[in-house]
Amino acid sequence: MDKESLNLASRSLVWPVCLVGAIQNEKHNIMTAAWITQISANPLQLIISIDKSRYTHNMISETGEFVVSILGSEHKEIAAVCGSRSGRNVDKVKQLKIGTIPSAVVKAPRLAGCLANMECKVVAQYPAGDRTLFVGEVVAADINKEDQKPMIMYRGKYIE
Ligand SMILES: Cc1cc2nc3c(=O)[nH]c(=O)nc-3n(C[C@H](O)[C@H](O)[C@H](O)COP(=O)(O)O)c2cc1C
Repeated sequence: MDKESLNLASRSLVWPVCLVGAIQNEKHNIMTAAWITQISANPLQLIISIDKSRYTHNMISETGEFVVSILGSEHKEIAAVCGSRSGRNVDKVKQLKIGTIPSAVVKAPRLAGCLANMECKVVAQYPAGDRTLFVGEVVAADINKEDQKPMIMYRGKYIE
């Protein structure tokens, strides 16, 4: 099978488009992440797959904490900016005027206007090719009770 078909096959998995946030030395950064899934119900655990080159990768491996914020379908600009610019060069939270809410347990804040925020503490991490898989135990969470649609990506396009 050619490389393009392999790529399209893998992108036929449906992606939940989220933001992963971390804070270090008072600096809050967020990045778009879609390779995220729940891996345990009790305790509630998620896995996130983060490329080693990401600024967020260093922040999570050094602080052991992160927040997953699930985006709504209206958050396309946020997903695009946070998925293409690095926190090494730009303050994405400030640039996009994203509202923050103090977290209950971890240092990185929750994000306003998302479907849900899950505060996670890293309980394990595994190398996977060019990525690191961080297992996060959910230590606190909130949900938006409004009727908001999630942002979902399939084969590189948003599903409406
Ligand atoms: C829709 C979408 C999904 C993404 N999912 C991931 C992901 O799961 N893991 C990852 O390492 N990068 C992912 N990225 C790329 C990062 O968001 C991007 O490289 C970002 O600029 C990294 O920011 P940072 O350097 O501030 O950490 C995704 C980008 C987009 C647009």
